[in-house]
Amino acid sequence: MRAQALSARGGGALEDIMSLTPTGEPRHKVTTASLRDQKLHHEPISCLTAYDYATARLVDEAGIDMVLVGDSLAQTMLGYDNTLSVTMDEMLHHVKAVRRGVKNALLIADMPYGSYQVDTKDAILNAARFVKEGGAEVIKLEGGERRADLIRRIIDAEIPVAGHIGLTPQSVNVMGGYKVQGKNLGGIEQLMRDAVALDRAGVACLFLEGIPREVAAMITAEVGTPTIGIGAGPECDGQVLVFHDIMGLTFGPAAKFVRRYGDAAALITNAVQAFRADVRSQQYPSDEESYHLPRETKAALDTVLMRKRAMAR
Ligand code: KIV
Repeated sequence: MRAQALSARGGGALEDIMSLTPTGEPRHKVTTASLRDQKLHHEPISCLTAYDYATARLVDEAGIDMVLVGDSLAQTMLGYDNTLSVTMDEMLHHVKAVRRGVKNALLIADMPYGSYQVDTKDAILNAARFVKEGGAEVIKLEGGERRADLIRRIIDAEIPVAGHIGLTPQSVNVMGGYKVQGKNLGGIEQLMRDAVALDRAGVACLFLEGIPREVAAMITAEVGTPTIGIGAGPECDGQVLVFHDIMGLTFGPAAKFVRRYGDAAALITNAVQAFRADVRSQQYPSDEESYHLPRETKAALDTVLMRKRAMAR
């Protein structure tokens, strides 16, 4: 609390910078209903992941429609190899932080692996935790037609659900790797069945990951719910990307569909190296960056020190 107050007074606080970055466009609260309107009016829906307060606030203030606290935080934030290890508690910790940063965007929380596959009652309780404790407005879970009944039960508990089909990262071991899905007639038929089943179950939107553009276009034309693509081509009703991918904050080679919009890694490295150099050369902090005693206290202190020095002689 104290550190925050001090840095805000210092003039360079993130808080101050962020309040100076309005987009200038009128903002409205994005809801599950307004998403459907966007689909009806062919207004493309934008979605980005966010995992912390500062990023969530910047993403929201930049006008993004949906913020997803994806289980991709397993890799981007926590350094795991895949999404399978991340827990409910880890997800909730990040959802709460993002909630504090998001005002207008629709906030979606990803159900982690193991939190909904085992037992329907547990799945509903876990989904409710994201709403009650995390402030999420929608939860997302992976899987096609075999999840339709579960999705109905969660919606019955007044919790909107986003579906996620195609290349579903939580099935990495079953799929035998991260492979584009729906590349043959059988695969296309399965994806169509999955999309229609989830649409009928009442999903608020449907994430389509890693599928051929032609198949995503067919699904988008077939279902009433907005489709949000990632590696699924331009005909989807909206697009989602992982924040760390667009900002160049990842360490491996990027997937084909990733477009890099910034180089935050270079920005961070340069800033950190500059700080280190300033510390080593004693260029930081300067006198202006230091606190000073009030004039009277300084005079009194000088007198005391002078007397001490005289007595020591
Ligand atoms: O976890 C995530 O980031 C996701 C998106 C890639 C859709 O599920």
